[in-house]
Amino acid sequence: MISVWRGHWMAQWGFCWVFLGLWRFSVGCPAFCTCSSSRISCIDQERGILDFPVLQNDIEMENVTEIYIANQSKLESINDMDLKMYRNLRNLTVTNTSLTNISRQAFLSNARLQYLNLKDNKLSTLSWKVFRHLNLSYLILSGNRLRCSCENMWIRLWLGDEADSQELRCVEDSGRERPLSQLSPPGCVPPVATLTPSNITVIQGADVVLECSASGAPPLERTWNFSTLVSAKKVRNFGQRSEVRLSNLSSVDNGCKITCNVENDVGENESSVVLDILFAPEITKLLDAVSDHHWCIPFSVAGNPTPTLQWLFNGEVIAEDNYIQTMIYDFSESEYHGCLQLDNPTHLNNGQYTLVAVNKFGRDQKSIDAHFMRKPWDGVMTEPIYYVPTIEDPPIEPGSKDSVAVYVVVGIAAVAFTGFILMLVLLKFGRNSKFGIKGFVLFHNVPVEVLAGREPTHRPIIV
Ligand SMILES: *[C@@H]1O[C@H](CO)[C@@H](O)[C@H](O)[C@H]1NC(C)=O
Ligand SMILES: *[C@@H]1O[C@H](CO)[C@@H](O)[C@H](O)[C@H]1NC(C)=O
Ligand SMILES: *[C@@H]1O[C@H](CO)[C@@H](O)[C@H](O)[C@H]1NC(C)=O
Ligand SMILES: *[C@@H]1O[C@H](CO)[C@@H](O)[C@H](O)[C@H]1NC(C)=O
Ligand SMILES: *[C@@H]1O[C@H](CO)[C@@H](O)[C@H](O)[C@H]1NC(C)=O
Ligand SMILES: *[C@@H]1O[C@H](CO)[C@@H](O)[C@H](O)[C@H]1NC(C)=O
Ligand SMILES: *[C@@H]1O[C@H](CO)[C@@H](O)[C@H](O)[C@H]1NC(C)=O
Ligand SMILES: *[C@@H]1O[C@H](CO)[C@@H](O)[C@H](O)[C@H]1NC(C)=O
Ligand SMILES: *[C@@H]1O[C@H](CO)[C@@H](O)[C@H](O)[C@H]1NC(C)=O
Ligand SMILES: *[C@@H]1O[C@H](CO)[C@@H](O)[C@H](O)[C@H]1NC(C)=O
Repeated sequence: MISVWRGHWMAQWGFCWVFLGLWRFSVGCPAFCTCSSSRISCIDQERGILDFPVLQNDIEMENVTEIYIANQSKLESINDMDLKMYRNLRNLTVTNTSLTNISRQAFLSNARLQYLNLKDNKLSTLSWKVFRHLNLSYLILSGNRLRCSCENMWIRLWLGDEADSQELRCVEDSGRERPLSQLSPPGCVPPVATLTPSNITVIQGADVVLECSASGAPPLERTWNFSTLVSAKKVRNFGQRSEVRLSNLSSVDNGCKITCNVENDVGENESSVVLDILFAPEITKLLDAVSDHHWCIPFSVAGNPTPTLQWLFNGEVIAEDNYIQTMIYDFSESEYHGCLQLDNPTHLNNGQYTLVAVNKFGRDQKSIDAHFMRKPWDGVMTEPIYYVPTIEDPPIEPGSKDSVAVYVVVGIAAVAFTGFILMLVLLKFGRNSKFGIKGFVLFHNVPVEVLAGREPTHRPIIV
């Protein structure tokens, strides 16, 4: 520090830099940048930054939504790790720098990035893969000497007319410039994937052959995504064509999505099919009645197409109505989960319940002995909750337990009366107070169903 003290002028600036240095250090701001909790700006031309600005504290980086870098002749690249901790970054401007290279994974963690301004840099090629996980609203690339190469073709396709309004130009190998909108290098065709057949509806146990044909140039890279498929599969490749044989299809794979993805320098495309596997119903769960809001005999049943369900009570078909009805609450992985719902059942409803599930591929049935016990509060509710003295009761003697009870009752009454008076006072004088208004608003927010003593509406799917 002392070496800076070379004169009056230097002393002043020295002080300034010491002060700024301390301030910067306290928030972990890189040298020659200025930082607030949400913004980093590096525009100092004299002492430029060499690397992308990174804060010392990971948590501080999470709060940053905007980074602005301008006039930095020494900044040349953005690397994989540079933006990793800026998870909430929305705006990034890097303009008039020596930026030539942005690595493939640079924006991998910046899913919220919307506005990306890369104006006036030295980018010559830029792969679409750098941006593949992003949902950008703005991409500004003007003022870069982009090459007229197939690798930059996606910019023309992605920006469309915007390429002309940004006056994007590209440079031929010969050095000649032309509008990017006229870019059409030979052998540069966006990929297209086509999966056939496009619908697969087959019975459980069947074999199926899926074919993914791809077009596009330069050469493509193809990937299959079988997501959760459990059935046996075998993949064979024949150049631009790839074939997958699925054998002995399992009902577990019903609804499974199979995707063929192709990509090349120009872009990517995918085609997918959802397996529709037909199988006979299977009741996977049937349990004794449980009491929740209603009484429910829980069940789960799988089947495709959707099985029709019927209930028997001691061997007699149940005619469903508002008091006893089948409710389906959830559907997942070809299984329907629901209840035979009963409203206030009595011991007369105890007995054997049989669920029969049928579709055109078969049927399944299962039985359960259901018992409807009294709800825990039934007993409590029927007990008297207050005590009415009768003529037979002995007179109350002072000092006895009963007289204590009387004092307690009188005491409670006095407290209640005082409360009532207080309430009247509050209502009269507190009408315009926040307290009074809040009370009303709160009351109005209570759902009507709750006020009426009903449970909030829950709309189940009725089979
Ligand atoms: C991040 O932002 C939140 C909310 O704006 C704030 O409470 C927190 O202190 C900030 N954290 C840092 C490290 O700046
Ligand atoms: C970058 O430098 C130019 C020319 O010196 C100047 O006009 C411009 O304001 C600078 N940009 C920023 C953001 O400071
Ligand atoms: C770009 O930045 C340099 C300093 O790095 C500056 O001299 C030049 O004027 C700036 N150009 C523009 C157009 O802002
Ligand atoms: C991002 O930049 C755009 C354009 O300059 C601006 O309109 C927007 O307010 C900025 N958003 C944030 C979060 O800084
Ligand atoms: C860009 O950087 C990566 C690694 O950071 C390197 O492999 C690649 O060759 C660079 N590309 C250019 C054009 O400099
Ligand atoms: C992409 O961003 C736009 C607005 O910029 C937004 O409406 C849309 O929902 C976003 N899409 C995804 C998948 O995040
Ligand atoms: C495929 O399924 C869709 C919807 O399920 C239907 O509209 C279309 O006609 C089916 N195509 C074939 C070839 O079966
Ligand atoms: C495969 O597909 C599933 C859903 O269909 C998706 O969640 C998953 O991310 C995909 N995997 C890859 C590697 O793309
Ligand atoms: C097909 O799969 C079922 C189980 O999903 C198995 O029981 C059966 O043996 C398999 N058949 C063949 C021919 O592999
Ligand atoms: C794939 O390409 C076809 C034909 O160009 C297009 O209709 C489809 O939307 C593309 N699909 C995806 C996921 O990009």
